[in-house]
Amino acid sequence: MARLLAKMWHILGSGAIGSIWASKLNSLNLDITLIFRDEERLGSFATTGNLVSVRSDQGLDQFQCLATTANKLTTPIQNLLVATKAFDAVSAITTLSNWLTAESTIVVMINGYGVQQELQTKFPHLIFTFASTTDGGYKTGEFETVWAGQGKTLVGSIKGTAKTPKEWEALPQIEATEDIDLILWRKLAINCCINPLTVKYNCRNGELLDIPGAMAEMSIIASEFEAISNATQKHLFDTPLLDQAKLVARTTQGNISSMLQDIRAGRRTEIRQITGALCDLAEQSGLAVPHNQSLLKLIIDLETNG
Ligand code: PAF
Repeated sequence: MARLLAKMWHILGSGAIGSIWASKLNSLNLDITLIFRDEERLGSFATTGNLVSVRSDQGLDQFQCLATTANKLTTPIQNLLVATKAFDAVSAITTLSNWLTAESTIVVMINGYGVQQELQTKFPHLIFTFASTTDGGYKTGEFETVWAGQGKTLVGSIKGTAKTPKEWEALPQIEATEDIDLILWRKLAINCCINPLTVKYNCRNGELLDIPGAMAEMSIIASEFEAISNATQKHLFDTPLLDQAKLVARTTQGNISSMLQDIRAGRRTEIRQITGALCDLAEQSGLAVPHNQSLLKLIIDLETNG
């Protein structure tokens, strides 16, 4: 009976974060529909029996989900989790825009900084909730994910009208924040310090700490970031960014950063929404961030030329 009355959540993006969150929402007995980008992915999901697998230190969670594509939708979406790559979020939401209304709960859980603001501007009639998570995971198959690190998720709104979805409050490690913009900015700072360097040195997060050249670069990246943070009057951390970045590299030492995972899989990375976002803000502030600029170029070159 409870299941009949369960709320429906649609999830856009079936990467590691989308799958981990499908598992979390499934644990709340919510009904889940995955929205795939095309018929090919939908068909490939059907061959698994619509089964999502998420392995964590708690064991294997395997569950069935409904699945669809944007052009098969027939009714408005009530609840949507957007867990796409940052560079896909605007176009993916555009394909659903006929089915999203001011009543839809839309939680956007993406990396980077800037796309969130772009969404608010492009869809002024929609109410977005933004989330920043430190959950870590990686895919071992098309619909198989390892949930490597159970993180904390902060949720809030930039315009001030959205709230944490009521049913999510039952999940552990979830917190509402009054200032999600600052949380996203801080995450950007950490990602700028760690992700491109893990690609450049082809190493796990923690290994950066043992490479003197990488640490010297991290220190320059951090001071360039702090200069932009000061110029844009955003309070970063109470301690230097370099110390925070080293701490995250240590606590996630075994992780292969999302950017290195993308490069190794021959996929496009989120460098434009991470280091690129900092470079854009620097330009608007009339300041130079040469080291971050050179890393932006290096990763784009690697994406293109391998
Ligand atoms: O992008 C990532 O992989 C993560 O945000 C971080 C913090 C670098 C940990 O792996």
